Amino acid sequence: MPDLAIQTSGLVKTFDKTRAVDGLDLAVPAGAVYGVLGPNGAGKTTAVRILATLLRPDGGEATVFGHDVVREADAVRSRVSMTGQYASVDDEMTGAENLILLARLLGHRKPAARARAAELLEAFGLTEAGGRQVKTYSGGMRRRLDIAASILNTPDLLFLDEPTTGLDPRSRNQVWDIVRIVVAHGTTVLLTTQYLEEADRLADRIAVIDHGRLIAEGTPGELKSSVGAGSVHVRLRDPATRTEAERLLTEILDTTVYRESDPVSLTARITGNGRDEAAAEQASRALAQLAAAGIVVDDFSLGQPNLDEVFLALTDHRATEETAA
Ligand SMILES: Nc1ncnc2c1ncn2[C@@H]1O[C@H](COP(=O)(O)OP(=O)(O)O)[C@@H](O)[C@H]1O
Ligand SMILES: [Mg+2]
Repeated sequence: MPDLAIQTSGLVKTFDKTRAVDGLDLAVPAGAVYGVLGPNGAGKTTAVRILATLLRPDGGEATVFGHDVVREADAVRSRVSMTGQYASVDDEMTGAENLILLARLLGHRKPAARARAAELLEAFGLTEAGGRQVKTYSGGMRRRLDIAASILNTPDLLFLDEPTTGLDPRSRNQVWDIVRIVVAHGTTVLLTTQYLEEADRLADRIAVIDHGRLIAEGTPGELKSSVGAGSVHVRLRDPATRTEAERLLTEILDTTVYRESDPVSLTARITGNGRDEAAAEQASRALAQLAAAGIVVDDFSLGQPNLDEVFLALTDHRATEETAA
């Protein structure tokens, strides 16, 4: 077993009648990016605030690097840092001034504080902007500065609560690069997100949560393979060949093939046995068989399922179970 940065068991937090966190079990390995994926209101921020010792749970247990978040809150605090909805930077000051001030508050002497600020501004592409007031920054620059502020003292565990919400694609990419830099320096990152693509790109493992509960956990690949490896779309030259193409694809892919409203198109979901290569292999075998049978294919595509599909599949499944119960 790898070392665990976070472990929770049966964690509960209730606000009035809302069970924001409702019996959450998490095991977050150290040294990687762990994604907590869920829609608005799923309980992500509440869970993060409990783990960062900002909120007391009503039930269950949570440890951070083996320290209980309630009984050993000081030990937890000494090893974690958080950024997110609570901006720590001052708009009226420059980026550099903010970082230097925060570094001084963390106990660094002035030369060390200046050096650390310069190093982080450089690493996050903010050297030029460092001399400007933060109120002139774009949303992406501000978010990068916020992350820089949270890692002034390289924490063992960094909570990033929806770090790219509201950012344009370019700024989002910059934040992703920064997360990769942070992890490469040995910090474990717990990142919450509503963006399925973000969890897929960044996280080594993902917990999908909804209504305060864990509904799935695994690597992005595992989650995707739980709803199939993707789908093949084929466009035939001659509509008269569709019945034969449908028969061949059903046989080779061992799955259901759908006729599209367009009379020359077929779509099939590939199982792929949980491996992307297997899906690609199956798809190319299918194409070769169609060609061998004299069926001309004008267009062909192999689509990966995205985590959107994964999430929908998982939550639909859950809703069905609940109705049945
Ligand atoms: N301080 C609070 N008081 C009352 N309800 C809250 C409070 N914080 C969160 N909630 C409720 O708990 C649920 C989970 O919220 P939250 O943890 O913020 O979800 P997320 O971060 O995934 O969007 C929501 O229904 C939210 O309205
Ligand atoms: Mg939130």
